[in-house]
Amino acid sequence: MNTAHSLLTALTQALGADAVLSGNAIPDRYAHDWSPSEPVTPLAVLRPGSTAEVARALQLCSEAGVAVIPQGGLTGMVGAAVPSPGAVALSLERMNAIESVDVASATMTVQAGATLQQVQEAAAKHHFCFGVDLGARGSCQIGGMLATNAGGNGVVQFGMMREQALGLEVVLADSTVLPMLRPMLKNNTGYDLKQLFIGAEGTLGIVTRAVLRLHPLPRARVTAMVALPDYDGGLRLLRELQAAFPGGVAAFEVMWEEFFALSLSWLKRQTPFDSGQTHPPLAALIDVVGGQQAALEEAMQMALANAMECGAVTDAVLAQSSSQARNLWQIRETTGEFPVHLQPINFDVSLPILRIGHFVQTCREALSARWRTHRTVFFGHIGDGNLHLTVDARSLGPDVDEVEVESLIYRLLQAEDGSISAEHGIGLLKKQFLHLSRTSTELALMRALKNVLDPRGTLNPGKIF
Ligand code: MLT
Ligand code: ZN
Repeated sequence: MNTAHSLLTALTQALGADAVLSGNAIPDRYAHDWSPSEPVTPLAVLRPGSTAEVARALQLCSEAGVAVIPQGGLTGMVGAAVPSPGAVALSLERMNAIESVDVASATMTVQAGATLQQVQEAAAKHHFCFGVDLGARGSCQIGGMLATNAGGNGVVQFGMMREQALGLEVVLADSTVLPMLRPMLKNNTGYDLKQLFIGAEGTLGIVTRAVLRLHPLPRARVTAMVALPDYDGGLRLLRELQAAFPGGVAAFEVMWEEFFALSLSWLKRQTPFDSGQTHPPLAALIDVVGGQQAALEEAMQMALANAMECGAVTDAVLAQSSSQARNLWQIRETTGEFPVHLQPINFDVSLPILRIGHFVQTCREALSARWRTHRTVFFGHIGDGNLHLTVDARSLGPDVDEVEVESLIYRLLQAEDGSISAEHGIGLLKKQFLHLSRTSTELALMRALKNVLDPRGTLNPGKIF
């Protein structure tokens, strides 16, 4: 009997037949994520139902020397969850329970396969909110979000996933379970080991459960879309709003002209601005939260009127209902439709917030000089210094070399001392550029950690490095 066959037999015995999919029983969706990486059907998909089963599965795979690829909601953008040939995919989709909500300490304990939306809804039932939000909320899972240190729209207010995790339970490659599910915010007892696993893209251990931090659910929320004459106007507005609503700016998403116009056309919508602008140089989508709806709306109206008076904003629309707010958010969330309309080459960079406007201009000029017909959209979570740009490969002409596009953008980014990944991670797609954002000493230490925690190299091999 070959290794693969005996491993599958042992896994089936250990986890049960319904937890092990192999051969033709493997649905296509386990072969890829949202990145353009080549799909690879794994040897098997494991769907354990408990931490003990995850540990047993890792032990068997480690003994057989078979790679394990952890998978969450498969909405990642860099191929971190794409199987390698002959590897086993480990999906935590059956471990999706919201185990408890502790109202007194404002925490929630969940299994890693719970989706972001499940967490948001469970939190709301107890008048709490969760600090991270992103467009893939219905599919992305907490385990994957922790493994990738996901960011999204709420980072300007509450930080990334790293800031939302108080405790974790992690299973190491050799099946050791690390029970670090402590709910305390303050805990200075040596190295904060759980942080090692957050953002490690499943290369150091498998997150199985988490204690998440919750925040009070705001009683009032206003959503506004504003047209900006330039990037500096946007920055001035952001700082004004943060001063006017301390701790209350919950999202500050910026869309440059090309993104805004394309998104409206994909949605078959008219501009939301009374002035009729379909191509403002930039538009910002802003959520502000507070305690009392009428007072918040009035304060926001006043803040925006002041911003228009001083020229930081050229038009503004304030949503009058939650459905209007949703309509405005749809303009920003068409990113999910990129693969339908574009052949996307995605970038997810961060750089000092003050430099972003200049960087966008430099990228536009450099892309136009090399590919006159390029179609590129710029957008991002500008409140936290995270810019996305997506180049439509089809607009560059035939036989385009994506690496040339990436090299061009990253060369410009290096000049700004920026990071090649703000929130999407490294996975497969950005491996070859990691050295631009990390020194060789940092990379050596990362490899040393990997060797200590996964000496046989079976956990998500070939990702990050
Ligand atoms: C977003 O902010 O919409 C996501 O990170 C997805 C993307 O970059 O396309
Ligand atoms: Zn993003």
